[in-house]
Amino acid sequence: MKKYVIANWKMAPQTLAEAEEILASVDEHLTADAGKKDLSLVICPPFVFLDDVSRLLKNSHLAQQAELGAQDIAASDSGAWTGEVSGPMLKRLGVKYVIIGHSERRWKMAESDDIVNKKLITALNNELTPIVCIGEKERSGAWQEFLKDQITATFVSLSADQISKCLIAYEPVWAISTNPGAHADTPEATVESIKTVASILYKVYGIQNSKFLYGGSINSSNAKDFLSLDQLAGVLVGGASVNKEEFAQILKAA
Ligand code: PGA
Repeated sequence: MKKYVIANWKMAPQTLAEAEEILASVDEHLTADAGKKDLSLVICPPFVFLDDVSRLLKNSHLAQQAELGAQDIAASDSGAWTGEVSGPMLKRLGVKYVIIGHSERRWKMAESDDIVNKKLITALNNELTPIVCIGEKERSGAWQEFLKDQITATFVSLSADQISKCLIAYEPVWAISTNPGAHADTPEATVESIKTVASILYKVYGIQNSKFLYGGSINSSNAKDFLSLDQLAGVLVGGASVNKEEFAQILKAA
């Protein structure tokens, strides 16, 4: 099965020169043939690098196998929204995917389920594929209830057909590498968590065929274990995606 590797660069690197180095290293480690068969690579740089990354991808071996993703999208297509970047603007830059509802935006920037839902609708209206992040903050108490409420609110008012167009990234907050004590879940435990998410989507929205990604502390040592799971369509990689060597190894695993 073709697997997604989504690179969430977050607020890195600091310079275009460093971004070019990362892409050059990826290019060097992938042959066009291997990529075409097995890999869908999505690079999600900071907004300011989208245009350059788009150009760099087009001029490399990666043209066949890599797409451009944004890390966020405005909830409206137009209007007075200081600092926001709209869906039509992203589309014109060649963006195909957009990360929505990342836990850093939900928790550190107080982005509500309602805003996440509006962004999701905006992305779909602009024919961008949403990479929708969901995940519990702690693995204690009623975490499954928390997930049910989050998933229900995130997708509210969307049709089954619209939800089926999304990639659903299960990213438990406690597994994200920059959080204190973070560690990836085991592949076995991840399969169980994905089953929980899938059953919520089925019970609440009647969805049966979602594509799931896992994210949280994916690195060169564990990528293969996750990418070989039948239940997963791929991985969402944060910190390791801006480390040239680590990321090249992850792509080899894919
Ligand atoms: P991480 O981040 O791979 O550094 O844990 C993943 C993410 O936040 O998307």
